[in-house]
Amino acid sequence: MIILENIVKTFTDGDKNLEILKNISIKIETGKKVAIIGPSGSGKTTLLSIMSGLDKPSSGRVIIDGIDIHTLSENDMSVFRNKKISIIFQSFELIQFFTAYENAMLPLSIRNSRNKEEVNQVLEKVGLTNRKHNMPSTLSGGEQQRVSIARAVLAGSDIIFADEPTGNLDSVNGKKVLELLLEVVKKTNKTFVIITHDMNIARQMDIIYSMEDGILKKLIQENLI
Ligand SMILES: Nc1ncnc2c1ncn2[C@@H]1O[C@H](COP(=O)(O)OP(=O)(O)OP(=O)(O)O)[C@@H](O)[C@H]1O
Ligand SMILES: [Mg+2]
Repeated sequence: MIILENIVKTFTDGDKNLEILKNISIKIETGKKVAIIGPSGSGKTTLLSIMSGLDKPSSGRVIIDGIDIHTLSENDMSVFRNKKISIIFQSFELIQFFTAYENAMLPLSIRNSRNKEEVNQVLEKVGLTNRKHNMPSTLSGGEQQRVSIARAVLAGSDIIFADEPTGNLDSVNGKKVLELLLEVVKKTNKTFVIITHDMNIARQMDIIYSMEDGILKKLIQENLI
């Protein structure tokens, strides 16, 4: 279970304090699929960075499976993240001197269980078989996004956080790749949090939250249909 308790995030801009996240408290049960929608600049990525331990809240706590993650040392945090969490970033965060294949298999090599066939299968499903030996700089934005989705699918972690994972894809590829992601998420009962502007995607989740100006509200599914 993921628990956010009174999360506040402020950034200083010159002599002004900007409150980007305003006292956010939610609970996400293990295995639930959650969408976060909301306008640009409302704080969605900031919240995801705090939930995944990449950024610290100004106050409040993030508790994942009983662990207050922001009290972990840097080293313990990265061990915890490698084991538990996969993140599909809005910007792809691929390692520039590795090929698409090497980037996709990275979580497997961290775990010392190199299964070539599995990597190839997933790369085929995201439509990258012909591009797998390319370096990220020679891939389009959408292709890089598909590598990062393949990486998350292969990682085998309990939790996937995805920040606009299909934002750079055309609708056909977006749909295909999202189907793969959801199939894996459902089959392995992962906890899944997706930031999306696409209501068709949001509607497929168990719970939809809307972020507006740093305030997170739960939307009742029935009201949307
Ligand atoms: N390091 C930072 N310093 C100062 N302000 C920041 C910083 N990071 C984010 N912000 C501000 O916080 C606000 C929320 O940013 P965030 O990236 O969380 O928005 P978002 O909801 O993900 O938007 P989008 O849909 O465009 O990705 C924005 O106004 C942004 O400029
Ligand atoms: Mg964002």
